[in-house]
Amino acid sequence: MKVNKAIFPVAGLGTRFLPATKAQPKEMLPVVDKPLIQYAVEEAYAAGVREMIFVTGRHKRPIEDHFDMTFELEVALEQAGKQELLDVVRSVKPADMECIYVRQAQALGLGHAVLCGRRLVGNEPFAVLLADDLMVGETPVLKQMVEQFAEWRASIIAVQEVPAEHTRRYGIVAGTPVDDRLIDVTRIVEKPAPEAAPSRLGVAGRYILTPGVFHEIEHQPRGVGGEIQLTDGIAGLLRREKVFAYRYEGRRYDCGSKEGFLEANVELALRHPEIGPRFREFLRTLAL
Ligand code: UTP
Repeated sequence: MKVNKAIFPVAGLGTRFLPATKAQPKEMLPVVDKPLIQYAVEEAYAAGVREMIFVTGRHKRPIEDHFDMTFELEVALEQAGKQELLDVVRSVKPADMECIYVRQAQALGLGHAVLCGRRLVGNEPFAVLLADDLMVGETPVLKQMVEQFAEWRASIIAVQEVPAEHTRRYGIVAGTPVDDRLIDVTRIVEKPAPEAAPSRLGVAGRYILTPGVFHEIEHQPRGVGGEIQLTDGIAGLLRREKVFAYRYEGRRYDCGSKEGFLEANVELALRHPEIGPRFREFLRTLAL
């Protein structure tokens, strides 16, 4: 019951970032010096995942190219004796990591995107990572979840407290506490109004799911916004299996929104070993 495969749904339209996302996926937007998708892939790798399944849309090229070998660049860096940069370039795709691409022809929703990975996942547990949720934790968040999965052998969904006025932005779960981080989920609803929300525990973009969820997604009608929702698939799964919500340890940046994306850039730039100190000085000079 090892989690060896992860699905990265990257076929969304990214409308909140237009025009930046007119001709490139939002997952390729860089935070400091790395595209969002690379942070997510590194998190999955650190959790032991080796098979990365990207569900792509019409702008798939930049993501495929990023995780491919860039022969000319490597030769040029090698000839110039720039070993450090060469190492940076080569580390993007470790030799034991496999990248597979599948296309979602129409952006019909996150549930539908996950369903596109069904044949590649087969009958085993798998992770789903939404790269626009950038997670920073001392222990990578997916690794924390894999540890929970190893103990409970049931689906694990990352959650955090959200302000009551933000419940419409999230899947919201309710259930019975197992310990201070784990909740035995009894209900999950997509984007409820604050007065209808069963709790304030919002789903963040990290999941470990059992393959039974595919069957549920396949047989559900369209949900909120006319989309095939992953949340509804998980609600179906709940009727057959245990599902746990896990309050992760770490910080989440909602890089699907401009504010969250800018916060991530500022905070990660401040921590960056090379540019951090100078950037801090620069921020001090701004009369805010
Ligand atoms: P979002 O809800 O953030 O949608 O999707 P979006 O289209 O990317 O962005 P906005 O709201 O228009 O700005 C959450 C994640 O699910 C993927 C997206 O790529 C993103 O990583 N997704 C969503 C798909 O892969 N396919 C879909 O049909 C919908």
